[in-house]
Amino acid sequence: MSKRLLLKDMVSTDKIEHVPSNYIRPLTQRPNLQDVVHDPIPVIDLQDLRGPNRGHVIEQIGRACRDDGFFQVTNHGVPEAIIANMMRITREFFELPEEERLKVYSDDPAKVTRLSTSFNVRNEKVASWRDFLGLPCYPLEDYIHEWPNNPASFRDIAAEYCKSARGLALELIEAVSESLGLDKDYITRQLGKHGQHMALNYYPSCPQPDLTYGLPAHTDHYVLTVLLHDEVPGLQLLKDGKWVAVRPIPNTFIINIGDQIQVMSNGKYKSGTHRVVVNCDKERISIPTFYSPSPDAVIGPAPQLVTDDEPAMYRQYTYGEYDGKVWSNGLEKCLDMFLVENNSNHVAV
Ligand code: OGA
Ligand code: NI
Repeated sequence: MSKRLLLKDMVSTDKIEHVPSNYIRPLTQRPNLQDVVHDPIPVIDLQDLRGPNRGHVIEQIGRACRDDGFFQVTNHGVPEAIIANMMRITREFFELPEEERLKVYSDDPAKVTRLSTSFNVRNEKVASWRDFLGLPCYPLEDYIHEWPNNPASFRDIAAEYCKSARGLALELIEAVSESLGLDKDYITRQLGKHGQHMALNYYPSCPQPDLTYGLPAHTDHYVLTVLLHDEVPGLQLLKDGKWVAVRPIPNTFIINIGDQIQVMSNGKYKSGTHRVVVNCDKERISIPTFYSPSPDAVIGPAPQLVTDDEPAMYRQYTYGEYDGKVWSNGLEKCLDMFLVENNSNHVAV
């Protein structure tokens, strides 16, 4: 049997019965699925964000960002048809024959539009149980010609979805900014010529889900994530030291705060820790939209949130520096490397 580049083909064509050894986590780092709890996570109705009760919604968003960094949103303004089309076309893409999918395969993290597997196969010790298609989305005209054109309507549908998801992300970033007592456009101003990209994640079913992860525990290192997922459970959030399984609700999004907002808020808001587990029966599809700063954007705690009592927790850096650390260190938490206390030798410029 030749070695497969993509996990889907190893699972569905080779019909493996055991998790290969390179996917098995050490004993102390396994999911312990029996310990997972089922608490609800906050659901925030965004309808009132556009009306006289805006202040009330802002308050709910602020609370969720302080508590755990996650919430779900309803009445988010992304039409159901756009969501359904995006899910359908993603499924169709992953159902293409192996040789067709391999045309867009690459293991080079410097290549932004690519189908790959796990996280970074070039430097990780243990692999993760997923394939993913990375799609840079903004500015769209710079990237759309690199996107797959099979299925035939892929580009049109994904472009429509990412414009809608971007509108929602922007609205939420403004609300988060306001909830911190900053100008509504404070955060967006700091981001410079911002970026947006999506990952189309495909987690095949797995014969031994207690040995491996779709994605191990991590925070998203961007600004904010708008996650669309299908009806198959798999996402888990860390809350008060316990893993909480998210029950998917159709036509809602999971929102999580990313590392950059944790830094700008001077640690007041949490970049939510999450992970993905897999299951024996069903494949799972998820589509996170990530909103990120320009590589040359200078990120640091907002001056209005730094006081004598609450000095700056993080040093300033360019987003390019942060992003480089993530790709060289893997999914490990990078935030701590930018703590002021870990940078006492750092000379401010
Ligand atoms: C991610 C991620 C969650 C999911 O891609 O960073 O956390 O449910 N995805 O797939
Ligand atoms: Ni994530």
